[in-house]
Amino acid sequence: MKNNPIGIFDSGLGGLTVLSEVARLLPTEETIYLGDTARVPYGIKSKETVVRYALEDAAFLQSHKVKLIVAACNTASANALDILQKVLNVPVIGVIEPGARAAVKATKTGRIGIIGTSATIDSNAYTSAIVDLAPEAKTFALACPLFVPLVEEGWNDNEIALSIAKKYLVELQEADIDTLVLGCTHYPLLKGIIAKVMGPGVTLIDSAAATATVVSALLEKEGIKNSSGSNASHAFFVTDSPDNFVKVGTRFFGKRLNCASLAELERRS
Ligand code: DGL
Repeated sequence: MKNNPIGIFDSGLGGLTVLSEVARLLPTEETIYLGDTARVPYGIKSKETVVRYALEDAAFLQSHKVKLIVAACNTASANALDILQKVLNVPVIGVIEPGARAAVKATKTGRIGIIGTSATIDSNAYTSAIVDLAPEAKTFALACPLFVPLVEEGWNDNEIALSIAKKYLVELQEADIDTLVLGCTHYPLLKGIIAKVMGPGVTLIDSAAATATVVSALLEKEGIKNSSGSNASHAFFVTDSPDNFVKVGTRFFGKRLNCASLAELERRS
């Protein structure tokens, strides 16, 4: 069990930001990543659809004998984590609770902003997680749907990105928040622009980094940390053409991706 891989899934490329943090913190852990690139984006789909996709993604990872599953996709975590935890027989970690916990720890004024896809914001998952941890907190949630295609286009640091960020974030500037949760896999790549718009008084919370810390703690607690001592390999699967994933994925992973394989998911009716 100890040497079995960690399974990580996302709607597409974005979860590579979570994998990158996990690999940095836990360099001896083997990983299997599944990007559901044929059906991305999840962020504009209904809860029912996101739940079905998440169950199919997790089943694929389970068939590869993973010891733990990370739902790296914020939209999948927000809408399907409870169901995944109920039906799977390995531990499942989502990105919402770790991000919420990090935000509550960082805030001084208790005024916390949350940005994410429409499906994440509509689910209210971040708000509930924050209020559970800190009932006195005031949350301000905002969907920023254009951020995902912007990042996929590689426009993370240009005038267009800056003006879109200004247009979206004005509402959160007016709310006088001191902490902002980047509640989407793609948003860490917009950190520079978001920080520029929100200013130095606002702490940006990266759910990816917070999640890696939770993964590490869980492996430790369950006694299933890989003890081989050698640098681990990472396997990548996608549901659409691996070529584009490999090309664009390097930007998200921060390291060259050498290859990815096509995954056949078993469909649920
Ligand atoms: N991975 C998704 C998330 O973190 C963003 C992309 C999508 O909409 O599928 O919410």
